[in-house]
Amino acid sequence: MTNKQTILIAGATGNIGRAATVALAKRGAQVVMLGRSADKLKAKVGQVGAELSEAQIEVQDKDIDILVIDFSNMNSVSLAAEEAMKRFTKINGLILSVGALIQNGPNILPSGHEVMFATNVMGPFLFTELLLKRLEESDGLVVHVIAPFDKEIDWNDLESIRNHKPMLAFNRTKVFNRMISGESARRYIGKFSSIAFDPAYVIDKTDPELKERWPSGFAGFFWRIMTILFAKSPAIAGEPIANLMLSHRDRSEINGALFKLDKRVEKPDKAMNDEVLGKRLWEKLVLLTGLTTE
Ligand SMILES: NC(=O)c1ccc[n+]([C@@H]2O[C@H](COP(=O)([O-])OP(=O)(O)OC[C@H]3O[C@@H](n4cnc5c(N)ncnc54)[C@H](OP(=O)(O)O)[C@@H]3O)[C@@H](O)[C@H]2O)c1
Repeated sequence: MTNKQTILIAGATGNIGRAATVALAKRGAQVVMLGRSADKLKAKVGQVGAELSEAQIEVQDKDIDILVIDFSNMNSVSLAAEEAMKRFTKINGLILSVGALIQNGPNILPSGHEVMFATNVMGPFLFTELLLKRLEESDGLVVHVIAPFDKEIDWNDLESIRNHKPMLAFNRTKVFNRMISGESARRYIGKFSSIAFDPAYVIDKTDPELKERWPSGFAGFFWRIMTILFAKSPAIAGEPIANLMLSHRDRSEINGALFKLDKRVEKPDKAMNDEVLGKRLWEKLVLLTGLTTE
């Protein structure tokens, strides 16, 4: 039996998830990298392992584990949650750092859902709900990696399908992440804790795949310039995530809080604090993800 904390990291192959994985593994946590491709995950495990051995940190077998999950597909999410419940006797932390920004939409999945809404909102919501028992048993902490954009929600077009504009649709999914983070903190108070984490602007400029990930046209040009001028290394986000996960003996003290890197933001966040809209979104997601059909 080990007392290492077991932390699941969704979006572990991306900038922030990978940085959080490294920072947590360096501090001795058992990390589970979540992603949709087993091959990509295995390659990233190799990279993380190499980084740790460079820093002369020894890791045991299974200290860096993987779990395959496609957050856009609710069947995959349910199967992965079932597997996690079987494999992990405790889940002390869950980092939700999944992000799909897809151009030229709306891209409607066979399930009928828009891909960004399904991946960024429905999948992480369903996964967390299916892990409730384990999170409660382990005094768990869920870290919602958010962005601070404010966009008005169209409750008649929650998935932003009509008059679809990719950036608007994406930014709305980020507003939903903040609403869910706040609602989860209220709903599960005393059971497990939820916080929102704003990572500032970070990009791994050494990523060989970076070129292929830029949007085309002017947007791509704009983001390239922004990255050169302003983006910092993902480690500046990974380190505070690891601190938040591992340094708080009483996690209830930070339940419902918003952090920008290592600073707690005292100004209340509108999307996180709106109890009426948080509840409304929650109830919609319960139906959309099939948690209940009533
Ligand atoms: N980077 C920033 O400056 C910044 C700032 C504010 C907020 N954020 C938010 O932080 C989160 C992570 O950002 P990031 O920069 O780390 O993004 P990223 O590098 O693009 O990583 C996104 C992650 O999501 C995963 N993903 C995408 N679709 C998936 C699916 N269907 N199933 C499972 N995993 C899927 C990707 O996996 P694959 O490797 O398989 O594609 C990748 O691991 C996003 O939600 C973003 O909005 C980022």
